[in-house]
Amino acid sequence: MMYSRLRHKPIQYILGDTYFMGNRILVKQPVLIPRVETEKLCELILEDMKNKQPFKFLEIGCGSGCISISLCKNSNCEGVAIDISQHAVSLTKKNAKLVLGKKWYKKLSVYESDMWKFSPGNKFDLIVSNPPYIPSLMINGLEKQVKLWEDNRALDGGDDGFKYVEFIIKQDWVKENGEMWFEIDSSHKDKVEGEYIEDIFGRCRYLKIKK
Ligand SMILES: C[S@@+](CC[C@H](N)C(=O)[O-])C[C@H]1O[C@@H](n2cnc3c(N)ncnc32)[C@H](O)[C@@H]1O
Repeated sequence: MMYSRLRHKPIQYILGDTYFMGNRILVKQPVLIPRVETEKLCELILEDMKNKQPFKFLEIGCGSGCISISLCKNSNCEGVAIDISQHAVSLTKKNAKLVLGKKWYKKLSVYESDMWKFSPGNKFDLIVSNPPYIPSLMINGLEKQVKLWEDNRALDGGDDGFKYVEFIIKQDWVKENGEMWFEIDSSHKDKVEGEYIEDIFGRCRYLKIKK
């Protein structure tokens, strides 16, 4: 363990798990370790969807599955979760079984898919994404335990870090009166029309867009 830490390996990868919204979530390198900021994203969505149940959601870039699984566990909903990484898809399935139980697949469908080529075939009440949103030029300045161990595809959001959000907003994936929720970088404030919300550290971190 000492050797791994000296190589800046995150403690969660060494232990193999973490906690998210009160649930044990397995983590495996290189899939992104769930962050505390993302718990607040889930709490905001759950509060917002409280009187809109049952609902159907789509998550783009599910990683460990922490967001989709928390929504399924804490509300009356069904979801589709996609990720470009086969490691992420496999981890999401394992975590869904762990947290939601043997019949997890009745609530959540998980697919390996590239969002740029994705075509869901039907519309959703809610779209949620914590996409890669770090501007490319900032990747090199990240802490070693992030940039050396976590999947670059989970981090690098392109020139200004906003291209994933911009693309998702332009798609016709959400129903009339539906909602889109994103975790964003604080530099993205006011890039598009919507409601911007701060994280627990007082940084602009979430974007809600109503269709
Ligand atoms: C910031 S991580 C978020 C993971 C997880 N939802 C969370 O909140 O911890 C972004 C995820 O998007 C996935 N991703 C990146 N590019 C993608 C693409 N083109 N299509 C689908 N998923 C993608 C990455 O593999 C990664 O798992």
